[in-house]
Amino acid sequence: MRKISVSAEHTYDVEIGASWKGALESITSKHSHVFILIPAALEEKLNLKKQYADKSGVTIRVVPDGEEQKDHKVVTTLWDEIASAQISRTDAVVGFGGGATTDLAGFIAATWLRGVNWYGIPTTLAGMVDASVGGKTGINTGAGKNLVGAFHSPSGVYIDIAFLETLSDRDFAAGLAEVIKTGFIRDSEILTLLEKNSTIKDARSVAEELIWRSVRVKAEVVSQDFKESKLREILNYGHTFGHAVEKSAHYSLRHGEAVAIGMNFEALLSVELLGLGKDVLDRQQKLLLSFGLPLTIDSGKFTADALFGLMAGDKKSRNGELRFVGLAALGEPGWIQAPSESVLRAVYEKIAQ
Ligand SMILES: NC(=O)c1ccc[n+]([C@@H]2O[C@H](COP(=O)([O-])OP(=O)(O)OC[C@H]3O[C@@H](n4cnc5c(N)ncnc54)[C@H](O)[C@@H]3O)[C@@H](O)[C@H]2O)c1
Ligand SMILES: [Zn+2]
Repeated sequence: MRKISVSAEHTYDVEIGASWKGALESITSKHSHVFILIPAALEEKLNLKKQYADKSGVTIRVVPDGEEQKDHKVVTTLWDEIASAQISRTDAVVGFGGGATTDLAGFIAATWLRGVNWYGIPTTLAGMVDASVGGKTGINTGAGKNLVGAFHSPSGVYIDIAFLETLSDRDFAAGLAEVIKTGFIRDSEILTLLEKNSTIKDARSVAEELIWRSVRVKAEVVSQDFKESKLREILNYGHTFGHAVEKSAHYSLRHGEAVAIGMNFEALLSVELLGLGKDVLDRQQKLLLSFGLPLTIDSGKFTADALFGLMAGDKKSRNGELRFVGLAALGEPGWIQAPSESVLRAVYEKIAQ
């Protein structure tokens, strides 16, 4: 097992190669009341309710799958239930599932009693390499993704690699989009490893190394800039355009798929405005395509006007100006402030078909 430590408002460990049963054992022995959120699809496989039926102080709450759970109506119901479960300041919430579940669990923990402990047991690749680490928690609103949230770090993250065995190729590839992002912004060894293992099957065989490398980068960046004053923004490469696509698709695309499209858009924009070499753009396109990730959008479904309107509401925009994280070179993120509408439209034309 490998451990990576993150220093934010408190220090915590991410354990890579943990067992989920051992993790729950440890959490329930530390806290007298534990409130565990698990999505329906996962509960069907694991039946935690049955396994923990006799354990006093443990509440298992099944939540809807995917983005549906990151909703204010789910949150208000959970606040009532967490009260009934008697979760006090010394107790804990657990997010047991994909990134949507750890985002929701973290948000419930951040808001309940102005902040109780929470733990992440991520079960998707996106959850392992990204969502459960870093303390960004939140839910969506009608206006956009993750617009309501809080910075609230977990007390521990336990990564059980065995979960990846049941993860569909589609979800595995979606998680790889964030891994590839990490490769381009900070750790090119990730890219070399993926180029040597360029099918989903082969990439699965090196998952533990990919997770370790990705979490290491995230931990390092978050430990330097927890509240995202600047450095942490590099983790948002691909996300300004990606979030707009994700929202426009009404969440029918996986987060990672939208990020792949966003990385392509933001790399193309970087070629125009940051002098990014075409070789880096080609490398990124080739790698994303080898895992079946999308690079383009249907111009009928995703109009430029709708996407640009959504981007204006993005959290990275400042004083009404659009702001992107792009790449100046491999491993060198750069900021793009208020690009002209004509450049944006020209890049949009390149990826809209
Ligand atoms: N907080 C952050 O820093 C951060 C970072 C990245 C992503 N996110 C968020 O994470 C979410 C995306 O994460 P995701 O892709 O994990 O989404 P998700 O949680 O919706 O999971 C995807 C699907 O996989 C299923 N699933 C979960 N574990 C499984 C397993 N082991 N086997 C089979 N199926 C399984 C889920 O039930 C769901 O249907 C988005 O909401 C995104 O905004 C947050
Ligand atoms: Zn992301």
